[in-house]
Amino acid sequence: MDTFLVVLMIFAALILLYILWCLAEPFFLVNDRVILKRSELKGGDISKETVKKLPFIPQGSEGAPDLRLFFFSDIHSEWCPVTAKRINNSIRKAHENGGLDAVIFGGDIITYPENAAKGYKYLKEVSAFCRFLGIPFYGISGNHDYNLENAPENSGFISLDSESVTLTSRKSDAKAYLTGVPDSGKLNRVWQENLVCGTDKPVILLAHDPDALLHLNTSARPQHMLSGHFHGGQMKLPFRFEFNVLRTTDKFPKLGVIQGHFNINGTEVFISRGVGCGILPFRIFSAPEATVVEICL
Ligand SMILES: [Fe+2]
Repeated sequence: MDTFLVVLMIFAALILLYILWCLAEPFFLVNDRVILKRSELKGGDISKETVKKLPFIPQGSEGAPDLRLFFFSDIHSEWCPVTAKRINNSIRKAHENGGLDAVIFGGDIITYPENAAKGYKYLKEVSAFCRFLGIPFYGISGNHDYNLENAPENSGFISLDSESVTLTSRKSDAKAYLTGVPDSGKLNRVWQENLVCGTDKPVILLAHDPDALLHLNTSARPQHMLSGHFHGGQMKLPFRFEFNVLRTTDKFPKLGVIQGHFNINGTEVFISRGVGCGILPFRIFSAPEATVVEICL
């Protein structure tokens, strides 16, 4: 056979394999665990030099945590092969293996508002299961949720958009604020400069878009932050094409902060890859993720 034809066939097969993998990866949910320790807030400007990428389980951090939270984000229910039943299964296993103090949804119920009912149904299944287990279910809005009316009521979670609750450690009488900032949407974004809770206890901030941290007053920076939004890139492309060309307004990806565990000027940050697919029904090298977040106060 002609060498050119062979090369062409190999090339076509590789492209086909790539497309098949893009379509298959959204089905592969990764259940992982991250430990966020307490570290001293340093203040100052956030830059590449002050961002530290950390492993999910840092050395010497094993031991009983103060809080165990189940965090999932970005279901984008138009195309979310990871069903609510599978999320509930992950919650059940996490609860059986050490208990959970809260289940938290990190925002982005849908990509397009006309599909809201599908997203509400998904989250209602999760909320019913949390109620059955006796675990509180909290949530915040994502940038795609900004014009959904009564989304928390329709989804069955307690909204922490500009609200806060106090959580008590499972091993001492230490307490922490769990609070959230709302997401103002895709255009003309409005950023919160302060949080609604006090500073007399450690603060765990829920912010759909991690860039929220860059806009907070230094004095309002939290000890811990949980976010989503970037989908881990969703489709990892060479030269970070997705962030350098397709979505250029996001600031943290330019500092290498896209997914995983970071310490940013003393704030311990976890950014989830999320569960569903935004815009395109593909994922590549960025599998869906649901995470047990263990927090040390
Ligand atoms: Fe999203």
